[in-house]
Amino acid sequence: MQIINLTAAEILDSRGNPTIQATVKLNTELTTTAAVPAGASTGTHEALELRDQDPKRYHGKGVLKAVANINEQIAPAIIGFDPVQQAQIDRVMIELDGSDHKKNLGANAILAVSLAVARAGALAKNQPLYLHLAQLLHPDAAQQPLSLPIPMMNVLNGGKHALGASDLQEYMIMPIGATDLQSAVRWGAEIFHTLGKILQKHHHATTVGDEGGYAPQLKSNEAPLKLILQAIETAGYKPGKQISIALDAAASEFYQDHHYQFQAEQQVLTTAELINRYASWTKKYPIVSIEDGLAEDDWQGFSQLTTQLGERIQIVGDDLFVTHPERLKKGLDLQAANSILIKPNQIGSLTETLTTIKLAQNHGFTTIISHRSGETSDPFIADLAVGTNAGQIKTGSLSRSERIAKYNRLMEIERQLGEQASLAQFGFTAVSDNQ
Ligand code: PGA
Ligand code: ZN
Repeated sequence: MQIINLTAAEILDSRGNPTIQATVKLNTELTTTAAVPAGASTGTHEALELRDQDPKRYHGKGVLKAVANINEQIAPAIIGFDPVQQAQIDRVMIELDGSDHKKNLGANAILAVSLAVARAGALAKNQPLYLHLAQLLHPDAAQQPLSLPIPMMNVLNGGKHALGASDLQEYMIMPIGATDLQSAVRWGAEIFHTLGKILQKHHHATTVGDEGGYAPQLKSNEAPLKLILQAIETAGYKPGKQISIALDAAASEFYQDHHYQFQAEQQVLTTAELINRYASWTKKYPIVSIEDGLAEDDWQGFSQLTTQLGERIQIVGDDLFVTHPERLKKGLDLQAANSILIKPNQIGSLTETLTTIKLAQNHGFTTIISHRSGETSDPFIADLAVGTNAGQIKTGSLSRSERIAKYNRLMEIERQLGEQASLAQFGFTAVSDNQ
């Protein structure tokens, strides 16, 4: 099988900003496409997302340069390859770019091609994408049983995804007690809608933020936890046993002058005070996971947070690691977390994403495959989460089609797997009294 053509186009993401779709054509005349997402609370150490900076188009956010890089530079370099040669194709693009952070071609350009090639590889092998990805991760191993990831569902949005709401960016529910994905999704949807009714009753706004969760203006960063706990119970579920809470503070966004600034309650906290705040919340609410609890270069703080809470709950690095093996290695040395968020566009190719996943899994870190706040309807990450046995996926709330596309694809995979399907187990348990 051979790639005979590669083209790209500028499309829009869920926020109405430009992004890239790549299309690979095989010698069988079949084509595959993939689209890349875009973040808002991006980590400073992420690979470069190339934008035109032309103020006359999309306020500078156009991606025509990156599209041209695919059409004019990447296409001639990869036409003729067999699409199953994922690692070789990714290496060709990385060498063609020649920079540390994919500054020349753009990580968005390289990733769009990388993902479209993976789809073409699956097509060439006549396999579902998740199986092809499983074989790319472990080419020499016998096929391990694959499990569906436990979803982290972002029902209350704040930070950069919903200005005016909480300082913390994401309040998520995790159906840790579900035994299959269809139930996990249903429980999440029921709690999401119950939460909407509770907000309405208290005269709070029920409009949603970038990831489809509600975005009410509340007086503190603790208030959303109370509301979610109420919604879990009102919907008829047991907090801590069936449904736990996960947070993504995205703390780099409220870190200023070496302190953490909580606008909602008008407080300024030191690293130690913020860690203590998290610790006190974990006693009151069934919180099992905290992502980016501290700023992206506060390595010492992360080590302290992991020492204090990491035995009991999941401490996740997102902006901290940016899906980069070198930053992950540093985190492993410093014991700065026990879990990593995986966003393919932070590093900019599928092969490097798989390298980071493998490194994390080999060292006992849990892995969470993640969307971005600016998404498309491309559900690639659903297959990635299953194929890599990631165990967890973070793909937003139970509203907005770009989020739901991933849940629908996961449920489709579950049906395809049939008897073999199982939902991953979660290794941490809440310590709060509310269980
Ligand atoms: P982003 O947010 O896509 O805006 O970076 C997601 C996250 O922080 O996990
Ligand atoms: Zn995050």
